[in-house]
Amino acid sequence: MFRKILLTAAAAALAVALVGVALAYEVPDKVKLERPKNNQKLNSWVTAVDFPHGFHAIRVPCNGCHHKETDKTLGKFVGCRQCHSSDDPADANGFYRAWHSDGPPSCLGCHTRMRTEGGKNPVGCTTACHKPS
Ligand code: HEC
Ligand code: HEC
Ligand code: HEC
Repeated sequence: MFRKILLTAAAAALAVALVGVALAYEVPDKVKLERPKNNQKLNSWVTAVDFPHGFHAIRVPCNGCHHKETDKTLGKFVGCRQCHSSDDPADANGFYRAWHSDGPPSCLGCHTRMRTEGGKNPVGCTTACHKPS
């Protein structure tokens, strides 16, 4: 009996903690990924990308993409583009590589890898991401 009460108290404490976290930031459902100002396109057909963020946030761990998120910055979830802003495709922390380098957390890197494991992740430049506007 005592044990049951303790467990209930623990569950109540956890619920409060989760509410606290949920209030600390908003997890966007949709994000439009537009290039930073003054950042040059690499090709004329490159359009902004509609990213289904909420869809991913329930399938992939947050820090699988938010790779600079640590215990110290927990809950900040700084947007990728605040760091990945340079238009040099050779810059590891530039705009292009955030989405196209090999392997996660880049979009193309993760999708390509998951496809080799039988996933249905879309990879076409203009069919999956840069849809003609
Ligand atoms: C598949 C990759 C991916 C996953 C998984 C993911 N995110 Fe994100 N998140 C992004 C991208 C990309 C952006 C847009 C960044 C930008 O605007 O530069 C973003 C933006 C955000 C933002 C807004 C940041 C801002 O200042 O504009 C928050 C908050 C956030 N994510 C929280 C979360 C949380 C919490 C989780 C887990 C529950 C999560 N994300 C999972 C990729 C991801
Ligand atoms: C606080 C700054 C910061 C934030 C926020 C950030 N990054 Fe990074 N990212 C970097 C830096 C710096 C590097 C270079 C390698 C390193 O230090 O990890 C990097 C490297 C990468 C790489 C490897 C690139 C390569 O070719 O080696 C990818 C992919 C990447 N980031 C994607 C993302 C995505 C996607 C987000 C958002 C969900 C994001 N980053 C958020 C700073 C950041
Ligand atoms: C760490 C892995 C990972 C990263 C990084 C990632 N995705 Fe995904 N993505 C997934 C998974 C898993 C699915 C679901 C695949 C399936 O349905 O089999 C998916 C599916 C999608 C879909 C299809 C959604 C639907 O309704 O079927 C789109 C569009 C997409 N991702 C865009 C992006 C974009 C844009 C980025 C980068 C900003 C990105 N993804 C980064 C794992 C990832």
